Amino acid sequence: MGKSKSQGGSHSLEDSANNGVLPKSKKDDDISSLTEGLNSVSIGANAGSDDVPDAIKCVADLISSNKYKNIVVLSGAGISCNAGIPDFRTEGTGLYDNLQKYNLPYPEAVFDLSFYKNNPDPFVQLASELWPGLKHSPTVTHSFIALLEKKGLLLRNYTQNIDMLDVLAGVSEDKMIECHGHFRTASCTKCSRTFDGEECKHVIVEEKKVPKCKHCGGYVKPDIVFFGESLPTRFHKFVKHDTMNADLLIVMGTSLMVGPVNMIPEMVRRKIPRILFNRELVGTFKKPNGMNTRRKSYDTSAQRDIFHGGDCDESIKSLCALLGWEDELNELNASTRLD
Ligand SMILES: NC(=O)c1ccc[n+]([C@@H]2O[C@H](COP(=O)([O-])OP(=O)(O)OC[C@H]3O[C@@H](n4cnc5c(N)ncnc54)[C@H](O)[C@@H]3O)[C@@H](O)[C@H]2O)c1
Ligand SMILES: [Zn+2]
Repeated sequence: MGKSKSQGGSHSLEDSANNGVLPKSKKDDDISSLTEGLNSVSIGANAGSDDVPDAIKCVADLISSNKYKNIVVLSGAGISCNAGIPDFRTEGTGLYDNLQKYNLPYPEAVFDLSFYKNNPDPFVQLASELWPGLKHSPTVTHSFIALLEKKGLLLRNYTQNIDMLDVLAGVSEDKMIECHGHFRTASCTKCSRTFDGEECKHVIVEEKKVPKCKHCGGYVKPDIVFFGESLPTRFHKFVKHDTMNADLLIVMGTSLMVGPVNMIPEMVRRKIPRILFNRELVGTFKKPNGMNTRRKSYDTSAQRDIFHGGDCDESIKSLCALLGWEDELNELNASTRLD
């Protein structure tokens, strides 16, 4: 697909990088309506932890209030950077800045279906280097998502990642929506017939070749969603239900530039708090401006978004320390390390 062109409405993977996430008018309307009806959240229990940023104290108080038991998590490539998998868009280290060796006409071509059908080599080379489960271990952020599930607080985990680290961290399959697919299964790009996932892995990782369909000779690829392809049925099956029923949204490590997943923060109910742990402010998230420093309270009736900028693993470690989950988090993470 084109770099920023919508393909088939909300049903196919779409890179909105050059368009902005939303048209301006809609964005403005949404922001002004985000402020209705939220209660003020007091930072009572955590007021003493002066070295911890207020936004993290606020999130700790929300979670420990026992009011939020249907948390939806939405994550992207940023949560896997500390596992050694580059994201797309971070300047310098992101994949888009490091694809020169593949000689691509434009960086997104590596994940473009029509490009793959003509020249599958760049993707196959990249996939042989990044194939999940071989050398990358879950980060503490992945373990945190698993911990939310263990504590009965996770409604669903929407990941845009194709690295399967959430599953390796222990998040159950019924809690997972792998919005952009995964490497476990494969199919033919010409006749759509399924191809054995293990065989696909062997051909790509061991033989460093392009797998070919046994029926029509077309190029086979793992069932990850390329630009121009539909998202998995499971995404469409759950997204309405989950956004209607979420009572808290936690977004981590994503630029929110790829649709339709980047609409999830707009789809959750207007009254629920939205938390963003990311290096930068993205999408329609707003910096918290509701902090009342004198009363040490975070007034979410003025602003429902809570943003903490920085490394998400560091944010999660601080948060878990405040929640008293630190040991559990570390044990869980240690038990899933590959080394
Ligand atoms: N690990 C993976 O599976 C992987 C890797 C690269 C790309 N992708 C694909 O990227 C596409 C979507 O883009 P995206 O939004 O996920 O990634 P992106 O590269 O567009 O954005 C990553 C975001 O994470 C932030 N970030 C980077 N490191 C961080 C850290 N340590 N802590 C907190 N924030 C951090 C960046 O500032 C940026 O905003 C998806 O289609 C996905 O399939 C996946
Ligand atoms: Zn075929």
